Amino acid sequence: MTALTLSTSSAATLRADAIVVGVAKGPKGPVVAPGAEAVDKAFDGKLATVLETLGAGGGEGEVTKLPVLSGLKAPVVLAVGLGDLPAEGDGFDEETLRRAAGSAARALAGTKKAAFALPVEDAESVAAIGEGALLGAYSYATYRNKGVAKKDDKSAPLAEAAILGAKPRDKAFKAAAERAAAVAAEVNRARDLVNIPSNDLNPKTFAAEVQTAAKEFGLKVEVLDEKALLKGGYGGLMGVGQGSATPPRLVRLAYTHPKAAKTLALVGKGITYDSGGISLKPAGHNETMKCDMAGAAAVFAAVVAVARLGLEVNVTGWLALAENMPSGNATRPGDVLKMYSGKTVEVLNTDAEGRLVLADALTRASEENPDAIIDVATLTGAMVLALGNRTFGVMANDDAFRTALYEIAGEVGEQAWPMPLPAELRKSMDTPVADLANMGERMGGGLVAGLFLQEFVGEGITWAHLDIAGPAFHESAPYGYTPKGGTGSSVRTLVRLAERTADGDLG
Ligand code: BES
Ligand code: MN
Ligand code: ZN
Repeated sequence: MTALTLSTSSAATLRADAIVVGVAKGPKGPVVAPGAEAVDKAFDGKLATVLETLGAGGGEGEVTKLPVLSGLKAPVVLAVGLGDLPAEGDGFDEETLRRAAGSAARALAGTKKAAFALPVEDAESVAAIGEGALLGAYSYATYRNKGVAKKDDKSAPLAEAAILGAKPRDKAFKAAAERAAAVAAEVNRARDLVNIPSNDLNPKTFAAEVQTAAKEFGLKVEVLDEKALLKGGYGGLMGVGQGSATPPRLVRLAYTHPKAAKTLALVGKGITYDSGGISLKPAGHNETMKCDMAGAAAVFAAVVAVARLGLEVNVTGWLALAENMPSGNATRPGDVLKMYSGKTVEVLNTDAEGRLVLADALTRASEENPDAIIDVATLTGAMVLALGNRTFGVMANDDAFRTALYEIAGEVGEQAWPMPLPAELRKSMDTPVADLANMGERMGGGLVAGLFLQEFVGEGITWAHLDIAGPAFHESAPYGYTPKGGTGSSVRTLVRLAERTADGDLG
């Protein structure tokens, strides 16, 4: 991954391949943002005019490259748009900086070292610029033949991002940069896992990845294989996974801190490929269904991030891994599964598989009586219809907890929105055949799925459900620090939740 460093060198004397400056949209044209004074000087104080001449206005995400003729060691200046100039006395908000750093880092692929001369006001701005740069520099090229000669590989991610104006020995700045590097590394881990095609990432190989990381970070890991799942009565996981040539797994990954007062359980949907099963999805555009394990990837990455940060909280990750395939062994519509909780479920649609694997994991997680359970899942197309491609839905059995998660997401720059669990929808899953069906009313399908999950949460346990079906996988053009493909959605929210819990800020 891209290296992140801090420096107080002047942009005038620093050796770098490019210097990034910010440009905002002022009332009378582009305005160069604070932090770029030395660069502006090298342009005779006319950087804003030069940019305006080139047609740059300072709009969000706009990038303009300028050659340097004199006054700077770097050969290139990259001006990145910051959007509207904040009101007098206000700084640029964190997400604006994060996105701008991301757009700049993305535009600098193929460059070795870039210095970021963006407005640094405090540790939060260092964290935002650092995170944005490391997330924006991400690229996934594992399956591409590197035919291009290495030295002029224009797609290689930026190798080093140096943040100017931040003393490397300042404790708060240093901590901010270290946190940014740890969090970005883990968001990028989740992205990688989502991007791996399903012929290489299946329940078995996914579990092996977790075991490798557990060793590296000193985490406790247990993997239940298909024999253990069958013996243990995990009818949901087995029912979904039995159609696949690669059988299901339930992974428990635990981080503990000796001084921890609270324990969080994170549960992730890990369908390594969702074909729909016997209720097969219609042909066309199903390649994105490799992303159906994004919840499990986020949970895995968040637990490792918490370990990297050494937070004073216990966090247990539960990864419900299965591949949803049609075959002679597959679960049929009309089949009844006996779940790990003992409840019976009539499968009306084998494409509503996520809730089945999650149900078993939620029941199992509940047995350890954690202070809260948060599940993360690419659960429903209905949530995408409701909230679009960039926003995840937050449902919960506790209003304050749902609000806390919604607010935390906003703080870390993830788009989330609270959604209800209307009690009257529960009866739409009634069936004469079993305790409940895995499908109910189509209207409010995302909420029906949430109500299904709620049935499997232990009595009295605070629980929230994040439906990340929209933002988990980004199909259109990259923007800010968001690449095409896996996004690492919800990792930053989960990490901040763990930090808040460690600090005793939550219930
Ligand atoms: N994995 C899908 C949901 C999904 C849709 C994820 C779009 C990412 C993008 C899920 O398993 C599914 O197929 N849900 C069905 C449920 C229905 C059959 C009740 C859906 O949403 O159509
Ligand atoms: Mn499905
Ligand atoms: Zn699915």
